[in-house]
Amino acid sequence: MTSSRMTGSALFRHLGPRLFSAASASRAAASVEPSYTLLLSPSRPPAPLLLRLLAVRMGSTSASPVLGGDPKKEDEAKSAADVEKEVAAVPPPEHKLVSRYWGIDRYKIAKEDGTPWRWTCFMPWEAYKSDTSIDLKKHHVPTTILDKIAYWLVKTLRFPTDIFFQRRYGCRAMMLETVAAVPGMVGGMLLHLRSLRRFEHSGGWIRALMEEAENERMHLMTFMEVAQPRWYERALVLAVQGIFFNAYFLGYLISPKFAHRVVGYLEEEAIHSYTEFLKDLEDGKIQNGPAPAIAIDYWCLPPDATLKDVVIVVRADEAHHRDVNHFASDIHYQGLELKSTPAPLGYH
Ligand SMILES: [Fe+2]
Ligand SMILES: [Fe+2]
Repeated sequence: MTSSRMTGSALFRHLGPRLFSAASASRAAASVEPSYTLLLSPSRPPAPLLLRLLAVRMGSTSASPVLGGDPKKEDEAKSAADVEKEVAAVPPPEHKLVSRYWGIDRYKIAKEDGTPWRWTCFMPWEAYKSDTSIDLKKHHVPTTILDKIAYWLVKTLRFPTDIFFQRRYGCRAMMLETVAAVPGMVGGMLLHLRSLRRFEHSGGWIRALMEEAENERMHLMTFMEVAQPRWYERALVLAVQGIFFNAYFLGYLISPKFAHRVVGYLEEEAIHSYTEFLKDLEDGKIQNGPAPAIAIDYWCLPPDATLKDVVIVVRADEAHHRDVNHFASDIHYQGLELKSTPAPLGYH
């Protein structure tokens, strides 16, 4: 007992100053390589390697090795310095990082037009231009018993949803996205655990399903800007999530082909709902206000984009999810495992 106390106090004497002293923390921070300003073009494909990046040492007055020498490049260096100043002028977040002991120092990022990147929930290389040319009318005709059950289950779920929301499509979208982001996460998690258990590759399906979950969550982050949930809607989300997460988890364990088919049909219904949303926007029943800033950056929309533009790209996303999930179900129907077919990664 005494020896463990002595060991503890010795450890504290040794580590205490490193863990708790602000002076030590700032010394550690000073030894960290300075931040960089990254400039990138939102109009280009969102692959990190394709980003036009200019690295400029923070606080350095001389031209960086990347930019030095060439007068034309020096001009670029000046404009990059201007951008750097602008990024540095952004007020610090409310909760300032207390200790930089761990060397975690986020890059300062600016868009190519010089405006600072304002989001922490996604990075510029995760933004994309939606493929709105996707066929919205594609439908999987249910032929097997299991497919028919999946189809009618989704059709049945539509009734209470229609009654509850009527034509309040902003609110409806926000609430349903809280559910839509669950299946991808559950499916991805179960495939992840399967990959660990069986010492096998996933064919990219873990990431594809996680991408879907993340994309759905971004739909929610967008519609939160359009409609705010009331207390009873928050309570409803809590209850629905508790039921749906567990039901989908069990469903996916028992029959992934059924689970993916259900999601395929849910996505078909989502396309229908967003089409109705668009009709109301066009008829003036819902005000077509400006697009939320987060949506403009996530889908690389023009600065004057409207809510209608947002609904169009979200609907296109749902059509992509429909294809991915019906495709996954079809793979299972052919007696194969998902890993046997490369996953549609980055399918937007
Ligand atoms: Fe969605
Ligand atoms: Fe979806």
